[in-house]
Amino acid sequence: MSRWNAHLYDVSLKYISDYGKELVALLNPKKDELIVDLGCGTGSITNEIAVSGAKLIGVDSSPSMIQRAKEKFPKIEFIEANATDFQISQKADAVFSNAALHWIVAEQQEIAIQNIRDNLKVGGRLVAEVGGKGNIQKIISSIDETVSAAGFDKVSFEDVFYFPSIGEYATLLEKNGYKVEMCHLFDRPTAILNGINGFKDWVSVFGISFFQNVPSDKQSEIIDKAIKLMMNKLEKDDRYFADYVRLRVIARKI
Ligand SMILES: C[S@@+](CC[C@H](N)C(=O)[O-])C[C@H]1O[C@@H](n2cnc3c(N)ncnc32)[C@H](O)[C@@H]1O
Repeated sequence: MSRWNAHLYDVSLKYISDYGKELVALLNPKKDELIVDLGCGTGSITNEIAVSGAKLIGVDSSPSMIQRAKEKFPKIEFIEANATDFQISQKADAVFSNAALHWIVAEQQEIAIQNIRDNLKVGGRLVAEVGGKGNIQKIISSIDETVSAAGFDKVSFEDVFYFPSIGEYATLLEKNGYKVEMCHLFDRPTAILNGINGFKDWVSVFGISFFQNVPSDKQSEIIDKAIKLMMNKLEKDDRYFADYVRLRVIARKI
Protein backbone atom coordinates (compact mmCIF):
# COMPACT_ATOMS: atom_id res chain seq x y z
CA MET A 1 0.00 0.00 0.00
CA SER A 2 3.01 2.28 -0.32
CA ARG A 3 1.30 3.76 -3.39
CA TRP A 4 -0.58 6.23 -1.17
CA ASN A 5 0.94 9.67 -1.42
CA ALA A 6 -0.26 11.22 1.83
CA HIS A 7 0.76 14.77 0.96
CA LEU A 8 -0.90 14.74 -2.48
CA TYR A 9 -3.99 13.17 -0.91
CA ASP A 10 -4.36 16.03 1.57
CA VAL A 11 -3.63 18.79 -0.92
CA SER A 12 -5.32 17.69 -4.16
CA LEU A 13 -7.85 15.05 -3.16
CA LYS A 14 -9.20 16.68 -0.04
CA TYR A 15 -12.73 16.50 -1.46
CA ILE A 16 -12.81 12.79 -0.52
CA SER A 17 -12.55 13.51 3.20
CA ASP A 18 -14.72 16.64 2.81
CA TYR A 19 -17.53 14.50 1.39
CA GLY A 20 -16.90 11.94 4.13
CA LYS A 21 -17.97 14.50 6.71
CA GLU A 22 -21.59 13.92 5.54
CA LEU A 23 -21.16 10.35 6.73
CA VAL A 24 -20.21 11.56 10.21
CA ALA A 25 -23.78 12.85 10.60
CA LEU A 26 -25.04 9.31 9.91
CA LEU A 27 -22.59 7.92 12.44
CA ASN A 28 -23.95 10.33 15.06
CA PRO A 29 -21.00 9.82 17.43
CA LYS A 30 -21.57 10.18 21.17
CA LYS A 31 -19.29 11.22 24.00
CA ASP A 32 -17.28 8.32 25.45
CA GLU A 33 -18.14 5.89 22.66
CA LEU A 34 -15.23 3.84 21.29
CA ILE A 35 -15.13 4.30 17.51
CA VAL A 36 -12.75 2.84 14.93
CA ASP A 37 -12.17 4.88 11.76
CA LEU A 38 -11.21 2.10 9.36
CA GLY A 39 -9.10 3.15 6.37
CA CYS A 40 -8.67 6.48 8.13
CA GLY A 41 -6.09 7.83 5.67
CA THR A 42 -4.44 10.97 7.01
CA GLY A 43 -6.94 11.25 9.87
CA SER A 44 -8.96 14.36 8.92
CA ILE A 45 -12.33 12.67 9.48
CA THR A 46 -11.02 10.77 12.52
CA ASN A 47 -10.29 14.13 14.08
CA GLU A 48 -13.70 15.49 13.06
CA ILE A 49 -15.42 12.56 14.81
CA ALA A 50 -13.25 13.01 17.92
CA VAL A 51 -14.78 16.47 18.44
CA SER A 52 -17.90 14.64 19.72
CA GLY A 53 -15.94 13.43 22.76
CA ALA A 54 -15.84 9.84 21.50
CA LYS A 55 -12.57 7.90 21.80
CA LEU A 56 -11.20 7.31 18.31
CA ILE A 57 -8.81 4.71 16.94
CA GLY A 58 -7.72 5.26 13.35
CA VAL A 59 -6.71 2.14 11.44
CA ASP A 60 -5.11 2.12 7.99
CA SER A 61 -2.88 -0.29 6.08
CA SER A 62 -0.73 2.42 4.49
CA PRO A 63 2.40 3.36 6.48
CA SER A 64 2.62 6.79 4.79
CA MET A 65 -1.03 7.66 5.54
CA ILE A 66 -0.69 6.53 9.18
CA GLN A 67 2.54 8.46 9.62
CA ARG A 68 0.92 11.66 8.35
CA ALA A 69 -2.19 11.09 10.50
CA LYS A 70 0.03 10.75 13.60
CA GLU A 71 1.89 13.95 12.73
CA LYS A 72 -1.35 15.90 12.16
CA PHE A 73 -3.25 14.59 15.18
CA PRO A 74 -0.79 13.42 17.86
CA LYS A 75 -3.50 13.04 20.52
CA ILE A 76 -5.41 10.40 18.53
CA GLU A 77 -4.38 6.73 18.46
CA PHE A 78 -3.53 5.49 14.96
CA ILE A 79 -2.67 1.89 14.12
CA GLU A 80 -1.13 0.53 10.92
CA ALA A 81 -3.19 -2.58 10.15
CA ASN A 82 -5.38 -4.13 7.50
CA ALA A 83 -9.19 -4.16 7.60
CA THR A 84 -9.01 -7.94 7.21
CA ASP A 85 -7.01 -8.53 10.41
CA PHE A 86 -6.91 -5.43 12.66
CA GLN A 87 -7.66 -6.08 16.33
CA ILE A 88 -8.43 -3.66 19.12
CA SER A 89 -8.26 -4.57 22.80
CA GLN A 90 -11.88 -3.55 23.63
CA LYS A 91 -14.96 -4.08 21.47
CA ALA A 92 -16.03 -0.89 19.69
CA ASP A 93 -19.40 0.86 19.73
CA ALA A 94 -18.97 1.67 16.06
CA VAL A 95 -16.73 1.11 13.07
CA PHE A 96 -16.80 4.03 10.63
CA SER A 97 -15.27 3.84 7.16
CA ASN A 98 -15.21 6.35 4.33
CA ALA A 99 -13.95 5.58 0.82
CA ALA A 100 -11.72 2.72 1.98
CA LEU A 101 -13.43 -0.68 1.96
CA HIS A 102 -13.80 -0.74 -1.86
CA TRP A 103 -10.00 -1.15 -2.05
CA ILE A 104 -10.43 -4.69 -0.77
CA VAL A 105 -10.97 -7.15 -3.65
CA ALA A 106 -14.18 -9.23 -3.72
CA GLU A 107 -12.56 -12.44 -2.45
CA GLN A 108 -11.36 -10.65 0.72
CA GLN A 109 -14.57 -8.71 1.43
CA GLU A 110 -16.17 -11.37 3.61
CA ILE A 111 -13.01 -11.66 5.71
CA ALA A 112 -13.02 -7.88 6.29
CA ILE A 113 -16.73 -7.82 7.15
CA GLN A 114 -16.25 -10.68 9.63
CA ASN A 115 -13.24 -9.00 11.20
CA ILE A 116 -15.14 -5.72 11.59
CA ARG A 117 -17.99 -7.67 13.25
CA ASP A 118 -15.53 -9.35 15.63
CA ASN A 119 -14.25 -5.93 16.75
CA LEU A 120 -17.78 -4.59 17.42
CA LYS A 121 -19.93 -4.95 20.56
CA VAL A 122 -23.24 -6.72 20.07
CA GLY A 123 -25.54 -3.90 18.87
CA GLY A 124 -22.52 -1.92 17.66
CA ARG A 125 -22.79 -0.28 14.26
CA LEU A 126 -20.88 -0.26 11.00
CA VAL A 127 -21.36 3.05 9.20
CA ALA A 128 -19.60 2.98 5.85
CA GLU A 129 -19.47 4.54 2.42
CA VAL A 130 -17.85 2.74 -0.51
CA GLY A 131 -17.85 3.06 -4.27
CA GLY A 132 -21.08 1.40 -5.43
CA LYS A 133 -21.99 -0.55 -8.55
CA GLY A 134 -21.16 1.51 -11.65
CA ASN A 135 -18.69 3.76 -9.82
CA ILE A 136 -16.22 5.64 -12.08
CA GLN A 137 -17.31 3.63 -15.13
CA LYS A 138 -16.36 6.41 -17.56
CA ILE A 139 -12.92 6.82 -15.98
CA ILE A 140 -12.24 3.08 -16.11
CA SER A 141 -13.55 2.69 -19.67
CA SER A 142 -11.32 5.59 -20.83
CA ILE A 143 -8.26 3.91 -19.33
CA ASP A 144 -9.23 0.47 -20.73
CA GLU A 145 -9.82 1.84 -24.23
CA THR A 146 -6.53 3.75 -24.27
CA VAL A 147 -4.40 0.94 -22.87
CA SER A 148 -5.95 -1.62 -25.27
CA ALA A 149 -5.62 0.70 -28.30
CA ALA A 150 -1.91 1.03 -27.51
CA GLY A 151 -1.60 -2.76 -27.61
CA PHE A 152 -1.24 -3.52 -23.89
CA ASP A 153 -3.37 -5.72 -21.63
CA LYS A 154 -5.91 -3.79 -19.63
CA VAL A 155 -6.20 -4.45 -15.89
CA SER A 156 -9.63 -5.63 -14.82
CA PHE A 157 -11.18 -3.23 -12.30
CA GLU A 158 -12.20 -6.22 -10.16
CA ASP A 159 -8.46 -6.79 -9.56
CA VAL A 160 -8.29 -3.34 -7.96
CA PHE A 161 -11.73 -2.42 -6.60
CA TYR A 162 -14.96 -3.89 -5.28
CA PHE A 163 -18.00 -1.77 -6.17
CA PRO A 164 -21.02 -3.69 -4.85
CA SER A 165 -24.74 -3.31 -5.53
CA ILE A 166 -27.19 -2.92 -2.62
CA GLY A 167 -28.20 -6.57 -3.03
CA GLU A 168 -24.63 -7.87 -2.94
CA TYR A 169 -23.47 -5.82 0.03
CA ALA A 170 -26.60 -6.18 2.16
CA THR A 171 -26.59 -9.94 1.54
CA LEU A 172 -22.92 -10.21 2.53
CA LEU A 173 -23.58 -8.30 5.75
CA GLU A 174 -26.73 -10.27 6.63
CA LYS A 175 -24.90 -13.55 6.01
CA ASN A 176 -22.19 -12.49 8.45
CA GLY A 177 -24.13 -11.50 11.54
CA TYR A 178 -25.35 -7.97 10.85
CA LYS A 179 -28.81 -6.42 10.68
CA VAL A 180 -28.82 -3.94 7.79
CA GLU A 181 -30.69 -0.80 8.82
CA MET A 182 -29.89 1.36 5.79
CA CYS A 183 -28.32 0.77 2.39
CA HIS A 184 -28.42 3.55 -0.18
CA LEU A 185 -26.91 3.67 -3.69
CA PHE A 186 -26.72 7.07 -5.37
CA ASP A 187 -24.90 9.01 -8.09
CA ARG A 188 -22.58 11.70 -6.77
CA PRO A 189 -20.95 13.58 -9.65
CA THR A 190 -17.74 14.87 -8.10
CA ALA A 191 -16.00 17.97 -9.43
CA ILE A 192 -12.37 17.47 -10.45
CA LEU A 193 -10.69 20.84 -10.15
CA ASN A 194 -7.54 22.23 -11.81
CA GLY A 195 -8.23 20.71 -15.24
CA ILE A 196 -5.69 18.22 -16.51
CA ASN A 197 -3.56 18.50 -13.36
CA GLY A 198 -6.53 17.49 -11.19
CA PHE A 199 -6.92 14.37 -13.34
CA LYS A 200 -3.19 13.64 -13.20
CA ASP A 201 -3.35 13.75 -9.40
CA TRP A 202 -6.42 11.49 -9.42
CA VAL A 203 -4.67 8.94 -11.65
CA SER A 204 -1.43 9.04 -9.70
CA VAL A 205 -3.13 8.36 -6.34
CA PHE A 206 -6.07 6.13 -7.36
CA GLY A 207 -5.52 4.81 -10.86
CA ILE A 208 -1.86 4.07 -11.42
CA SER A 209 -2.26 0.30 -11.06
CA PHE A 210 -4.43 0.30 -14.21
CA PHE A 211 -1.26 1.16 -16.17
CA GLN A 212 0.90 -1.63 -14.73
CA ASN A 213 1.08 -3.48 -18.07
CA VAL A 214 2.37 -0.39 -19.88
CA PRO A 215 6.20 -0.18 -19.97
CA SER A 216 7.47 2.69 -17.82
CA ASP A 217 8.92 4.64 -20.77
CA LYS A 218 5.45 4.73 -22.39
CA GLN A 219 3.36 5.35 -19.27
CA SER A 220 3.18 9.11 -19.22
CA GLU A 221 2.15 9.27 -22.90
CA ILE A 222 -0.60 6.64 -22.42
CA ILE A 223 -1.79 8.26 -19.18
CA ASP A 224 -2.09 11.62 -20.95
CA LYS A 225 -4.16 10.02 -23.73
CA ALA A 226 -6.43 8.27 -21.22
CA ILE A 227 -6.91 11.55 -19.33
CA LYS A 228 -7.88 13.40 -22.52
CA LEU A 229 -10.49 10.74 -23.25
CA MET A 230 -11.93 10.80 -19.74
CA MET A 231 -12.03 14.60 -19.75
CA ASN A 232 -14.12 14.43 -22.96
CA LYS A 233 -16.51 11.99 -21.35
CA LEU A 234 -16.80 13.91 -18.07
CA GLU A 235 -17.02 17.51 -19.31
CA LYS A 236 -20.16 19.50 -18.55
CA ASP A 237 -20.38 23.28 -19.14
CA ASP A 238 -16.58 23.62 -19.12
CA ARG A 239 -16.30 21.78 -15.82
CA TYR A 240 -15.38 18.15 -15.13
CA PHE A 241 -17.35 15.78 -12.92
CA ALA A 242 -16.09 12.29 -12.10
CA ASP A 243 -18.91 9.75 -12.34
CA TYR A 244 -18.85 8.65 -8.71
CA VAL A 245 -21.55 6.28 -7.46
CA ARG A 246 -21.65 5.77 -3.71
CA LEU A 247 -23.07 3.05 -1.51
CA ARG A 248 -23.81 4.01 2.10
CA VAL A 249 -24.65 1.49 4.74
CA ILE A 250 -25.62 1.35 8.40
CA ALA A 251 -25.55 -2.18 9.81
CA ARG A 252 -25.63 -3.48 13.40
CA LYS A 253 -23.92 -6.52 14.85
CA ILE A 254 -26.61 -8.98 15.98
C1 LIG B 1 -9.42 7.25 -0.39
S1 LIG B 1 -8.55 6.99 1.10
C2 LIG B 1 -9.80 7.47 2.31
C3 LIG B 1 -9.18 7.94 3.59
C4 LIG B 1 -10.15 8.51 4.61
N1 LIG B 1 -11.12 7.53 5.04
C5 LIG B 1 -10.83 9.75 4.06
O1 LIG B 1 -12.05 9.73 3.90
O2 LIG B 1 -10.13 10.73 3.80
C6 LIG B 1 -8.57 5.22 1.27
C7 LIG B 1 -7.75 4.72 2.44
O3 LIG B 1 -8.07 3.33 2.63
C8 LIG B 1 -6.89 2.69 3.04
N2 LIG B 1 -7.04 1.25 2.78
C9 LIG B 1 -7.17 0.64 1.59
N3 LIG B 1 -7.27 -0.69 1.74
C10 LIG B 1 -7.21 -0.93 3.07
C11 LIG B 1 -7.26 -2.10 3.87
N4 LIG B 1 -7.39 -3.32 3.32
N5 LIG B 1 -7.16 -2.00 5.21
C12 LIG B 1 -7.00 -0.77 5.78
N6 LIG B 1 -6.95 0.39 5.08
C13 LIG B 1 -7.06 0.31 3.75
C14 LIG B 1 -5.80 3.34 2.22
O4 LIG B 1 -4.52 3.11 2.75
C15 LIG B 1 -6.24 4.80 2.25
O5 LIG B 1 -5.67 5.50 3.31
